[in-house]
Amino acid sequence: MTQEKLNELLKDMSLEEKVGQMIQLPAKVLTSGGLVTGPTGTTQLTKEQIGMAGSVLGIKGAEKICELQKQQMAKQPHHIPLLFMLDVINGFETIFPIPLALGCTFSPEMAEEACSVAAAEAAADGLHVTFSPMLDLVRDARWGRVMESPGEDPYLNSEMARAMVRGYQGDLREKDKVAACLKHFAGYGAPDGGRDYDNVELSERTLMEDYLPAYEAAVKEGCRLAMTSFNTLNRIPSSGNKWLLRKILREKMGFDGVVISDYSAVEEMVPHGIAADVREAAKLAVEAGVDIDMVSNAYAGHLAELVRSGEVPEKLVDEAVLRILTLKNDLGLFEEPFKVVDSAEAGKILLREDFRQKAREAAAASFVLLKNEGILPLRKNFQSEEGSIAWIGPYVDNREIYGAWSFPKRPEETVTIKQGVEAKGLRGMSFAQGSYVMDKGCATKFGRIPNPSDEQTDQWLSEAVALASSSDQVVLCLGEHKDLTGEAGSRTSLGISEGQMELLRKVRQVNPNIVTVLFCGRPLAVKEIAELSRALLVVWMPGTEGGNAIADVLFGDRVPQGKLSMTFPRSLGQVPIYYNHFATGRPNPSHEIHLFRNGYMDEVTAPLYPFGYGLSYTEFAYSEVKLDRREMKAGERITASVTVTNTGDMSGVETVQLYLRDPSASVVRPVRSLKGFQKVSLAPGESREVSFSIEEPMLRFYDIDMNYVSEPGRFEAYIGGSSDTENGAEFVLV
Ligand code: NOJ
Repeated sequence: MTQEKLNELLKDMSLEEKVGQMIQLPAKVLTSGGLVTGPTGTTQLTKEQIGMAGSVLGIKGAEKICELQKQQMAKQPHHIPLLFMLDVINGFETIFPIPLALGCTFSPEMAEEACSVAAAEAAADGLHVTFSPMLDLVRDARWGRVMESPGEDPYLNSEMARAMVRGYQGDLREKDKVAACLKHFAGYGAPDGGRDYDNVELSERTLMEDYLPAYEAAVKEGCRLAMTSFNTLNRIPSSGNKWLLRKILREKMGFDGVVISDYSAVEEMVPHGIAADVREAAKLAVEAGVDIDMVSNAYAGHLAELVRSGEVPEKLVDEAVLRILTLKNDLGLFEEPFKVVDSAEAGKILLREDFRQKAREAAAASFVLLKNEGILPLRKNFQSEEGSIAWIGPYVDNREIYGAWSFPKRPEETVTIKQGVEAKGLRGMSFAQGSYVMDKGCATKFGRIPNPSDEQTDQWLSEAVALASSSDQVVLCLGEHKDLTGEAGSRTSLGISEGQMELLRKVRQVNPNIVTVLFCGRPLAVKEIAELSRALLVVWMPGTEGGNAIADVLFGDRVPQGKLSMTFPRSLGQVPIYYNHFATGRPNPSHEIHLFRNGYMDEVTAPLYPFGYGLSYTEFAYSEVKLDRREMKAGERITASVTVTNTGDMSGVETVQLYLRDPSASVVRPVRSLKGFQKVSLAPGESREVSFSIEEPMLRFYDIDMNYVSEPGRFEAYIGGSSDTENGAEFVLV
């Protein structure tokens, strides 16, 4: 449809019809089932209002979607197609590793591929919009939603943001693409106490410099929707924050897409205490620039009347509706409202073999090897049939190894570790009978994990210990249950269950050769687990091909290459902890316990494993950093290089990282900031020169007057395999 035609359509629509476009229904209003993640006001809607709604969230299944599309379009005076939206977060049917794990790949290319597979499957299933990428910067592992973010760094998150938007959207009119929705605008990742939905206080400088860049990167990449966050930002709920949505998002960042509220967030401005009632909440939201009210009754119940009474100019409604119609038009929905009708066709696309291969590759690349005392890779060539490697723990034969927000139609398609190991056809593998109790009656968001009887638990435990003592090595597959992360998944502890710790301790008493494979959706405090294990591999929530990817990496068919995109603390008390913190007046570079220095009395300040850290099966040596010049002006560049050598006897992949530091500026700068990374693949003995270009814009920050500038002076550049590298050189900006 041409722009002219869209304008004509808008002109021809009644006020009720226009408001309808601004209402999003939860699936349960139209059909049984569907995703419900909070209270919805839409239960109060009239039949007419339901018929007029412009979009629906939370349905899966091509046939169902097409049927609803037909049914709803028939009710609309202008037969405008609806938008069907879903949280496609970790992939769709082919489930990829969680976004935090994708962050650890340091591979925007892989993230792009993961999102383009997700888009192809979601579009084949009838969906038009995914509520992804989630780009909230995360520094507090207590918050359950850290699993949905690429991590703690503005630069890495921005690179991932661009890649993910490209992967989902490509050319939006293609059949295998969906529109992306960046979220949660803004600052949702910094709630007080790590409690979900809690308030966020961020200085304008921190917001601009650390929290906004990834959202902005998605906007610049052409992301078509943006979702407001649940939280207050500096005491104003985002869905009613005109400054945030109009001035920052639209004016400063240049966003011209559709703004959708989070689930019921418009109505939630009443309990937040900035709207006296839902009517006022509707007024605040439309004035702030929220185009679609997700599942609350605010727009449906009050917007038309607010316009009629003259309290809200109709122009605001028109602008919002035009943006929604434009999106529908750009998706090609006016010509083809049923993008995929043929469920047989959809069936061929879902879980395609090449998609599974990509998921396997991405999962393997996301694992982070935190410790290895020469025990990994595992030996393949045991001579005996007997159990020389014992596989023990609740995750050995567990399919629930995909992240929160995964809705696979066929969970049986997930490959468990046992299946992955068996597929290698090796001798000497033994799997503990029964699954050792996971979290023994522990509460998750969706109920309690079944609590096996004590006899059963004791029996499993003694079988596991007996197997461990008769084996050469033990692979312990432990973890945090997936339902302890994701939305409403905040925790006040960062460990695995006591039952699993008991298993680890008991196994350790009979066999020290333990490789721990750890599943988690957040950084955990793993000090004891690391101490008791000879190797520790974090595998996050790896998805459909998890078991194959884990077997690949453990046996060295693929090499571990992930680097932490979020810091692992030593203890819960260190949280929030992140590498790019600020220097204090009493720094403590030794990270030891020092009285009257920055830090704690009972714990060192350094994390257990910093951002950017991750081992390989080989070693990499870095030469000193070479700069081609020591001085530069704006418009010039310095080339910083190192030679990286694989000094071990296995091939390996290293992520070479560039960090910059501004040691003296008009405002205090982070102790270092990631400004570049490159992955290199090196054969044993091979060396490669890796170069980065340092340019003046990379040195900019918000100065004392909030101007985004660089200041002349001395700078430090570090290049290494982790954020704590000391391999540095100095240069001057003149
Ligand atoms: C609430 C969550 O905060 C958001 O991330 C999600 O997209 C919506 N619910 C829709 O499910």
